[in-house]
Amino acid sequence: MKTIKGKGIHQELGSNITNLLFVTQENSPIGSTLPFVYEKGLWKVSSTFYKSLPKKATFDRLTRCSVVGNSGSLLHSNCGKHIDEADFVYRCNAAPLKPFAADAGTKSNLTSFNPSIFEKRYKGIAKQSSLKKFVSDMQQYHGYLWGACFSGRSTLDLCMKAISGYNIKENVFVLAHPYHYKSFHDYWIRRGKKKLPSTGFYYTSDALSRCNETHLYGFWPFPKAFDDISSYNVSYHYFEKLENAWKEPHGMNIEFSILVQLHLLGVVKITMENVN
Ligand code: CTP
Repeated sequence: MKTIKGKGIHQELGSNITNLLFVTQENSPIGSTLPFVYEKGLWKVSSTFYKSLPKKATFDRLTRCSVVGNSGSLLHSNCGKHIDEADFVYRCNAAPLKPFAADAGTKSNLTSFNPSIFEKRYKGIAKQSSLKKFVSDMQQYHGYLWGACFSGRSTLDLCMKAISGYNIKENVFVLAHPYHYKSFHDYWIRRGKKKLPSTGFYYTSDALSRCNETHLYGFWPFPKAFDDISSYNVSYHYFEKLENAWKEPHGMNIEFSILVQLHLLGVVKITMENVN
C-alpha cells in the first residue's frame, strides 16, 4: 500500500491542521472567537469556557488507522479483528461496540457524536435520567468522544449541558473545531465535491493527514449487497434499523466513488470483508 505521509494535505492546509481537530486552550485562547458552521454568528471564548477545554491536541504521526463507517455491509464481514489491529480507530456517531465486536471491533480512539443523537436517543437530555443514560452509554468509548457541536448556538448549548454532567475516566468529550471542518470541506470543494462531507468521508480525509496507512471498513452507501447474484438487502446502519435514511444529504455515492479512486491509487484501502 502506498504511503502518502499526508504531504499533499499538509502542504495545502498547513501542518498545524492535525492539531486543530478539536477546540483546545492552545488553539482557542480567551477572547478569541469561533464561528458556527451552519449559522451566522461567533462564539467568544470566555474564561469559563476556556477552563473547560483540554490543554492541547497534539498527535504523533500514526502508522496505521482504521476508519469505521456505519453501513450495514459490515454485518457478517468478520472485520473486527483487522479493524482493532490499527494504532488508531475512528468511529462514527457513537455506534454501539460490544454486540458487533466480531464485525466492527471494539477499539475506539476517536468517536464522533452528532448532537442530533441527543434528541434521537436521549430525549434531548431534558431530564436528569436521560443525561445519566447518555453518560453511562458513553463509557464504552475510549480516547476522544468528538462532538460536532459548533453547527449552531442551540447545539452548542446542548453540548455544554451534556459536558457539565460528564465526568468519566474512559474518554474525554471534545468539541469539533469549526475551522478544521471548514478546511477539509473547502479542500474537497476545490476538487469539485460540493455537498457537505459525511462524517466517514471527513474522518477519512483527517486520517490521510495523520496516518501512513488509512484502512476503511463499513463504507457501502447502497441498499443492495455488492454481490448482485444475491438479492441481499443492506441496512443503512449495521446497528439499527432506520426509516428513510437513504435520503441522506451528503451524496455518499459520490463520496464512495472518490474513495474507490483513492483505493485504486493505493492511497486508502477499502475492505469489505475478512476472508481469512
Ligand atoms: N456510510 C456508508 N454507507 C452507509 C452508511 C454510512 O458508507 N450505508 C459511511 C458514511 O461515510 C458515513 C459514515 O459511514 O459518514 C457513518 O455513518 P452515519 O453515522 O450515517 O454518518 P453521517 O450520515 O455522516 O451522519 P451525520 O451526518 O449524522 O454525522
